Amino acid sequence: MGAVSSSVVMALIFLIMLLSRLMLSQTLAPLRVDLTEWKILPTGEIVSCPEKRRGIQMEDWRTQRGFHALTQLYRREDLQRTIPYTTEYYRLQDVEFNENFKDIRSSGKLIDSNSSPWEKDVASLLAFKQSIQIDPLSVLANWTIGKNSDHCRTWTGVTCNKKHQVTKISLPGLQLNGTITPMIGDLAYLSYLNLSSNNFNGEIPLELMNCHSLSTLDLSVNLLGGQLPPQLGKLSQLNVLWLSHNSFSGFIPASLGKCHNLTSMDLSHNNLSGSIPAAFGELRQLQELWLENNHLAGSIPTQLGLLNQLQSLALMNNGLTGPIPSSLGNCTSLVHLLLGNNELTGAIPVEFGQLSLIQEMGLEYNGALGGPVPGFLSNCSQLQILFLGACNFTSIALEIWSMTSLRQLALFSNSLTGELPLEVGNCTGLRWLDLGWPQNNLTGSIPKTLGNLKDLITLNLIQNSFTGGIPSELGSLPQLTKLLLDRNSGLGGPIPQNLASYRNFSHLSWGHVT
Ligand SMILES: *[C@@H]1O[C@H](CO)[C@@H](O)[C@H](O)[C@H]1NC(C)=O
Ligand SMILES: *[C@@H]1O[C@H](CO)[C@@H](O)[C@H](O)[C@H]1NC(C)=O
Ligand SMILES: *[C@@H]1O[C@H](CO)[C@@H](O)[C@H](O)[C@H]1NC(C)=O
Ligand SMILES: *[C@@H]1O[C@H](CO)[C@@H](O)[C@H](O)[C@H]1NC(C)=O
Ligand SMILES: *[C@@H]1O[C@H](CO)[C@@H](O)[C@H](O)[C@H]1NC(C)=O
Ligand SMILES: *[C@@H]1O[C@H](CO)[C@@H](O)[C@H](O)[C@H]1NC(C)=O
Ligand SMILES: *[C@@H]1O[C@H](CO)[C@@H](O)[C@H](O)[C@H]1NC(C)=O
Ligand SMILES: *[C@@H]1O[C@H](CO)[C@@H](O)[C@H](O)[C@H]1NC(C)=O
Ligand SMILES: *[C@@H]1O[C@H](CO)[C@@H](O)[C@H](O)[C@H]1NC(C)=O
Ligand SMILES: *[C@@H]1O[C@H](CO)[C@@H](O)[C@H](O)[C@H]1NC(C)=O
Ligand SMILES: *[C@@H]1O[C@H](CO)[C@@H](O)[C@H](O)[C@H]1NC(C)=O
Repeated sequence: MGAVSSSVVMALIFLIMLLSRLMLSQTLAPLRVDLTEWKILPTGEIVSCPEKRRGIQMEDWRTQRGFHALTQLYRREDLQRTIPYTTEYYRLQDVEFNENFKDIRSSGKLIDSNSSPWEKDVASLLAFKQSIQIDPLSVLANWTIGKNSDHCRTWTGVTCNKKHQVTKISLPGLQLNGTITPMIGDLAYLSYLNLSSNNFNGEIPLELMNCHSLSTLDLSVNLLGGQLPPQLGKLSQLNVLWLSHNSFSGFIPASLGKCHNLTSMDLSHNNLSGSIPAAFGELRQLQELWLENNHLAGSIPTQLGLLNQLQSLALMNNGLTGPIPSSLGNCTSLVHLLLGNNELTGAIPVEFGQLSLIQEMGLEYNGALGGPVPGFLSNCSQLQILFLGACNFTSIALEIWSMTSLRQLALFSNSLTGELPLEVGNCTGLRWLDLGWPQNNLTGSIPKTLGNLKDLITLNLIQNSFTGGIPSELGSLPQLTKLLLDRNSGLGGPIPQNLASYRNFSHLSWGHVT
């Protein structure tokens, strides 16, 4: 009886053990790891190659300390989810070099094989470091390989994805002096590269175009030169392209029009020549286009009118010719339109009356751009800054003075004639009104309604043909600190007492006032 019951108990225990082992192996089976498949890199890093591990069972995996290291790194659920089913590489960090690993190392069973993706990344990053000659702040000092080093975690400016692939290098403003290594093209998953405000010289390596995932490229404010490679058009994921303040020369490659995901392009402050590619009309996501301070010529392509997301268009300080295309009136998202200091001709297109969001319009220093300052601009109800100085405008439509959004109006050195109407006093947001300097020849009296412009800080009426007295209403403007009235030979009468007596003018000029 005792023997029977004891054998039943034994059988039960055996059953329980078997069951629990079965259950255990069911839950944990995916976690099985064969340490003979770990790979130890020359750098001392230990990696596993799951696709080689497939099918290999290791009976007593729980005794392997390597697994404990693994579980420290990855939560158990993550392991179950990822290890058995993917062909991704995983990397062990901070693993103790216990006996097992040593054995593996000396047993010669190490997996030889092709290099893993992160070995390539590390080699690429080390080449990047190598091509930097001067690192005065020693920011790359921790770009070294070793036991406690992980390029994804301890290297300044480097970021990786969950698969341990380098996705981001961010090293702006660190006084780095050197070239950009062609080996950067080996970073297959790089999506963000920011090397702005350093002293990088040389050219953009063509190999960079192998980084197909690149979505942000910021190399602005460096000493880079040469031509912009047409291969930039291969970066189809490109979202932000900032190359300003370098010495790039030659043409803007039309192939950039293929980067359909671009939202922001800044090629300003370079030495680029040729014309603006019409293919930019294909960049339908574009919100910002900065091309100012180059040597661009030719006319503004009408195709830019297709960019209905465009908020900022800056083309000033180039040699652009021809009329302003009326199609720009279709860029109804425009907030900043800066076309100053070119050789544009003709008039402001009537379609600009559709720019309901525009805040800043700079068309100054286009000597042959003119005609009347058109009334339809009063449709632009957000317009605050209207710079039309040094053009050829002949008159100002009355509607302009009804624009209470206007803060700054510059029309110096134009061809204005006639009288300044009383309606000027309706433009009550004005802080800065400049109608002065040669060529303008406004006549009649200075309207006393200027006294309504309570925010006025600067009033420049220099060198016109105003006559009569200086309205005493100007004396009641609390902000006015610059009042420039000289070289108006017909201006006379007493200086209003309340003007100069109790207020501090930084500039108050009365030359030729009789
Ligand atoms: C690497 O070096 C940079 C710059 O000296 C430092 O800010 C950063 O903390 C270092 N990173 C680590 C993980 O030590
Ligand atoms: C690059 O880094 C600088 C400095 O942090 C930053 O101002 C700039 O916005 C960055 N560029 C991009 C494209 O994110
Ligand atoms: C950077 O390097 C270039 C060429 O290697 C050199 O001419 C220049 O003087 C260096 N600039 C600085 C700020 O060290
Ligand atoms: C543009 O970005 C969207 C997501 O924002 C993506 O689905 C699409 O593939 C990208 N297009 C190109 C040409 O890269
Ligand atoms: C800029 O380009 C012009 C030719 O378009 C060239 O003559 C000039 O030397 C260049 N300037 C600089 C600073 O590279
Ligand atoms: C503006 O867009 C409309 C609708 O797409 C089009 O019919 C019109 O021709 C465009 N205007 C100009 C001046 O390009
Ligand atoms: C001005 O705005 C009105 C109403 O929004 C519109 O009907 C008219 O066409 C606009 N004028 C111009 C010149 O765009
Ligand atoms: C300025 O406009 C007047 C006529 O309005 C014209 O005769 C003159 O040629 C224009 N000047 C320039 C530089 O275009
Ligand atoms: C605009 O100015 C004129 C002349 O000063 C005045 O008669 C008129 O009432 C003003 N209109 C508005 C809307 O302020
Ligand atoms: C300014 O206009 C007045 C009146 O039309 C004219 O007599 C005068 O000669 C003009 N002055 C200049 C400098 O053109
Ligand atoms: C004028 O300036 C002086 C010294 O800068 C200052 O003490 C004084 O308050 C100012 N007066 C007015 C009315 O702003």
